[in-house]
Amino acid sequence: MSIDIYWRIGMEGDHASLRTPRRYNRGNAGGYGPGNIAPAIRGGELDGYSYIDHAAAVAKASESAGFLGGLLPSFPVTEDPWAIASALARETTTYRFMVAFQPGFLHPVQAARMSASLQRATGGRLVYNIISGGGGPAQLWWGDKVAHDDRYARTSEFLDVLRGVWDGAPLDHDGRFFRTEGAALPPGLAGQPFPEVYFSGSSGAAVNAAGRHADYYLSWLEPYADLRAKFDGVRAHAEKLGRTPKFAVRIDIVARHTEEAAWAEIEKGWAFVDRDAANRAAQGDSVGAARIAGWVPETITGYRDLEVQPNVWCGFSLIRGGPAFGLVGSYEQVAERLDELVDLGVDAFILAGNPHLEEAYRVGEEVLPLLGRTTPAHRSAALATHTV
Ligand SMILES: Cc1cc2nc3c(=O)[nH]c(=O)nc-3n(C[C@H](O)[C@H](O)[C@H](O)COP(=O)(O)O)c2cc1C
Repeated sequence: MSIDIYWRIGMEGDHASLRTPRRYNRGNAGGYGPGNIAPAIRGGELDGYSYIDHAAAVAKASESAGFLGGLLPSFPVTEDPWAIASALARETTTYRFMVAFQPGFLHPVQAARMSASLQRATGGRLVYNIISGGGGPAQLWWGDKVAHDDRYARTSEFLDVLRGVWDGAPLDHDGRFFRTEGAALPPGLAGQPFPEVYFSGSSGAAVNAAGRHADYYLSWLEPYADLRAKFDGVRAHAEKLGRTPKFAVRIDIVARHTEEAAWAEIEKGWAFVDRDAANRAAQGDSVGAARIAGWVPETITGYRDLEVQPNVWCGFSLIRGGPAFGLVGSYEQVAERLDELVDLGVDAFILAGNPHLEEAYRVGEEVLPLLGRTTPAHRSAALATHTV
């Protein structure tokens, strides 16, 4: 069975490593300043190298390191993933672009036309990461006051209209959130492959909607038993609708030649813990974010307190923002933990590391080739000797 493995492209900029304070300074994403790798000053003028060149470097590096494509996240602090995907498409050859977007903020007919154009231009390399929104300040940034479960109703209606218009037959729709009359894609755009749908959200409303729409149900990493239970719930619900979604997990990785060296990276990053920033970022009504926050203890005596099972660490949100869980360990250990997720039913990974460029090469060259090398028996024997 083949596993689809994506890398994350930082749409918010990129910074040197977990060992440095958060300075989004690669390729001038946050403006020009000391410590940037670019742009350079030549003859008193800034040269043209810019954040988009850096994003292209990450896309090309991860493409050549064996990743199938890149996830382009979407938050108020990020670039727009549609625009960046278009810009990066011609820099790459087979690399897929997993564009994160919130259906509420686009008309589905416009989304259909944009998507079909991108599919046609790239030879079918667009993948959807459908975001229904986590509430709080980030939602208000978009002026969106639609209640939590209604956001999933809106997502469902959006995807119904988008699919309805996709093949080119004229569509009339008069729904709760969207209306259209006689909408059809132009003949040249009709009939493209429909983008694969990655769908996330841990609430009941999300699981209901995922059952109908997800090709891949996407989750952040969680303790493995909880992830298994979550996937079982999604699978059972989808089966009632006659569907069988695949499963995907988004995981931060710190992998080094030895486990000690990997934890040493975390130890250095630990000097920059910012719990207030992590709490601010978690504001909202996201059930998934609340689940994750529940695993991060209020009182922490040291970073190893956050190793909830061997090599599974839930402190990433404290040292670089974003999701809490990731894998920390030697190349072999990280590959084994990924293999265990495959045993548990995972069909696709979205991996990430800081800095995105160098870590794409490292994970692609050192970890991916080790996948599928060990048996479940070997892995449980290795785990038995590991103490948390
Ligand atoms: C792997 C993953 C990636 C996500 N990426 C984004 C993103 O780029 N932008 C965003 O606003 N929300 C993102 N989300 C948030 C979810 O799509 C969803 O809005 C949130 O989990 C709230 O849903 P819930 O209350 O049903 O859990 C992501 C969630 C997951 C699991």
